[in-house]
Formats: sequence, structure tokens, C-alpha cells
Amino acid sequence: MLVFAKIKSVQEKLKSLKNGTTIGFVPTMGALHEGHLSLVEKAKKENDIVVVSIFVNPTQFDNAEDLINYPKTIDKDLSLLKSTYCDIVFTPTPEEIYANDIQSQSFDFDGLEFQMEGKFRAGHFNGVGTIVERLFEIVKPHKAYFGEKDFQQIQIIRKMTEKRNLHVKIIACPIHREMDGLAMSSRNMRLTKEQRTAAPFIYETLKKAKDKFGTKNASEVVKWVENEFKNHPIFRLEYVEIADEDTLLPVETKNPAKKYRAFIAVFAGNVRLIDNISL
Ligand code: PAJ
Repeated sequence: MLVFAKIKSVQEKLKSLKNGTTIGFVPTMGALHEGHLSLVEKAKKENDIVVVSIFVNPTQFDNAEDLINYPKTIDKDLSLLKSTYCDIVFTPTPEEIYANDIQSQSFDFDGLEFQMEGKFRAGHFNGVGTIVERLFEIVKPHKAYFGEKDFQQIQIIRKMTEKRNLHVKIIACPIHREMDGLAMSSRNMRLTKEQRTAAPFIYETLKKAKDKFGTKNASEVVKWVENEFKNHPIFRLEYVEIADEDTLLPVETKNPAKKYRAFIAVFAGNVRLIDNISL
């Protein structure tokens, strides 16, 4: 496994590969867990080589404290990646990526950016679009792998590749969960013992919402979830929404031809957790 921090060196290596070598790319912000590794494994099955990037992208954090508190575990990350099938790791600094201008470009994602996460994290998706496009430009992957844990992010990246005519296939990977159902996340390590013990409640509630969606309409199910979180001793609900997978707009009347998902964001103290379920 080779590790590069400089754009020039990773590009030189990638250029030296035999013609026709397929590149699978997994962008990450580090603090790796099995969810990330499942993306790396899938990428290895479908490509000749796998590139993983580790970069805590400052422009996608709407909250300075969240950026400071974002876990950084580079040594552990590299040893986890060594135990998988990762060929190349790219670990740039913010200066390497942004020079002296740590700013996002402004994107038009046809409204996808104004739903759910977009309502609560101003500028987040401009930051994601900026870094992912930049990383695609550097790595030039054939396929790039993203987790459905951040479902809105996948739809936004798909939109960006379509609108900017980027030649990369976006592959969506299922949510990897802990045994008790909690969606794996780098933020889980910031939960207190009490919060961690209570955390399966989030996915349990989503599963019950899925059952209810069989017989009730979306607004009834949303109200039911809101009520489950009302006065919860540990979690504060930020939003719950049932939305069309393609447009991410809230469902009004159910259309059997469409696919829907329930999306949720909750706070445990100052740790923000998100999850979703296909309905
Ligand atoms: P990060 O949160 O590190 O996640 C990297 C990738 O791993 C994302 O595609 C995310 O959806 C996926 N992932 C995280 N937890 C997962 C889980 N439990 N199951 C399956 N996949 C999971 O998402 C980002 O970084 C950044 O926004 C990034 C795309 C790297 C741009 O900076």
C-alpha cells in the first residue's frame, strides 16, 4: 500500500499505471470504521486498483466546533487500510488542496441541496461538491463509492457528475450497522456510554416508521416519529422526513411507482447523528 500526501506524487503514480487499469475511488474523512472498509472491499471487487483519500474537508463543516472535534486517527486508519485491499492512500493537507484559499465553489444541484441536511447545514453541500470534484480531478477514477448512510450526499454527487459531465460512475453502497442497529459513523466514538447504549433507538424508530408507512400516510408517520422523540431523555430530534429518493422532496401522496426513504437527524448532546431507511 502506497501513501501520498502530494497531488503531484499521487498523480505520477496513477499515470504510471498500465493503460486500461481501472481505478476505484473511496473518498473519506478518516476515522475509518467497517462502514468505510465495506466501500473499499466493494471497490476492489470491481476495479484493478483502489485509491482511498483521507481528508477532513474544512469547507463542508458549517460548525467550527464540529471541525475541531472531528476525530483524527490517521495511524489506525492506515493500518486498517493495510488489512484490506487498498492500493493507494491519498492524505493531502488543506494547503495542498486549497492553496491559501479555503473556500467552496457555489453549485446548483437543482434544489437537492435545499432539502434536509441542506436546511440545517448551510453551505455543507457546496463544500462536499468542491472537494469531491477536486478529488475526482486528481484521481480520475472510473468508479467512485459512496455510502447510503449519507443518501442525500450520493444524490448530490450524482447530480454534479451529470451536470458537469464528469466521467465517473457513482456506486451507492448499503449502510453498515453495528450489531445493535446503530449506523456506523466516525462520530459514534464521541458518544458517552449512556448515549451509546441508547443509540439503537434511532434505527428501531426508523424500522417502526417503515412498518407504519405500509398503512399510514407520510405526515402521520412523521408525526409519530416526532412524538417518539418528544421528551426523550437523551436525543433531540432535528428533523425527520419521508422523501422521494430522486427529488428528495417530502412525500405528499404515495405513488407506487416511486421509491421513498425516511431520513432522520438527531443530537445526542453536541454529537449529531444521521440515519435513513428505504421504505
Ligand atoms: P465520511 O463521513 O468519512 O464518509 C466516507 C464515505 O463512507 C461516505 O461515502 C459515507 O457515506 C460512507 N459511510 C460512512 N459511514 C457508513 C456506513 N455506516 N455504512 C456505509 N457507508 C458509510 O462522507 C464523507 O466522509 C465526506 O463528505 C466526503 C465524501 C469524503 C467528502 O469530504
